[in-house]
Amino acid sequence: MFSSRLILNTPHYDQLTQLVELDRICLGGLWTKKGYQRELDNPNSSLLVLSIEEFGFIVGCGCFWTILEEAHIVLLMIHPDYQGQGLGQLLLYSLLKEAANRNLERATLEVKVSNQSALAVYQKIGFQLVGRRKSYYQKTGEDALILWRGDLDHPRFREDLSHWRLRISDRLNQYNWLISDLDLYLKRDDKSGKKIK
Ligand SMILES: CC(C)(COP(=O)(O)OP(=O)(O)OC[C@H]1O[C@@H](n2cnc3c(N)ncnc32)[C@H](O)[C@@H]1OP(=O)(O)O)[C@@H](O)C(=O)NCCC(=O)NCCS
Repeated sequence: MFSSRLILNTPHYDQLTQLVELDRICLGGLWTKKGYQRELDNPNSSLLVLSIEEFGFIVGCGCFWTILEEAHIVLLMIHPDYQGQGLGQLLLYSLLKEAANRNLERATLEVKVSNQSALAVYQKIGFQLVGRRKSYYQKTGEDALILWRGDLDHPRFREDLSHWRLRISDRLNQYNWLISDLDLYLKRDDKSGKKIK
């Protein structure tokens, strides 16, 4: 059977150039290579990448900062060619799971009012709207919405994670992403003809 494998892990230093390119494509150049290196070296920063193992191609990245008992989600991006397949929800799920593993209590983030796809992803994974920062984004003057997810340390949150895990798996299956173990790696039918080892 022809397939390729998608893995979720902390990036290696030799992936940073690729990460900067993905950042440029998805976010217009938010962080430089030095910026990503700083995140990797920072014990309070959790950086996760999704990449296709065979090609070493990074399709997505997410990051949160641990500030006291909160996870501040500062980055979530999926390569445009891979958007709309459930991978954004997978990354967000993984960030929240990591936050819960670190015994954090809450997660929060800011998102542009106009960013409907990001808002959809956050709301599907249990974030609620708690406020608005007027003219938050300097370049456009656009408002930011403040989203919040509490009770990460509550036993009920583990149940929510299991529920999302199933839903995300179903979603990914629709796009031929086959999940062997969500926490280790994902497999996908591949039309490129590359054979798995
Ligand atoms: C936001 C982002 C990470 C989402 O990644 P993704 O892989 O497309 O997300 P998913 O496929 O898991 O889910 C997207 C959901 O949004 C929905 N959606 C997409 N566009 C939408 C729109 N205009 N209005 C409402 N919902 C929308 C999709 O239907 C999908 O929901 P579904 O699974 O029920 O169909 C991706 O679009 C991205 O990288 N954007 C650029 C960077 C960015 O804006 N990051 C967020 C900064 S806060």
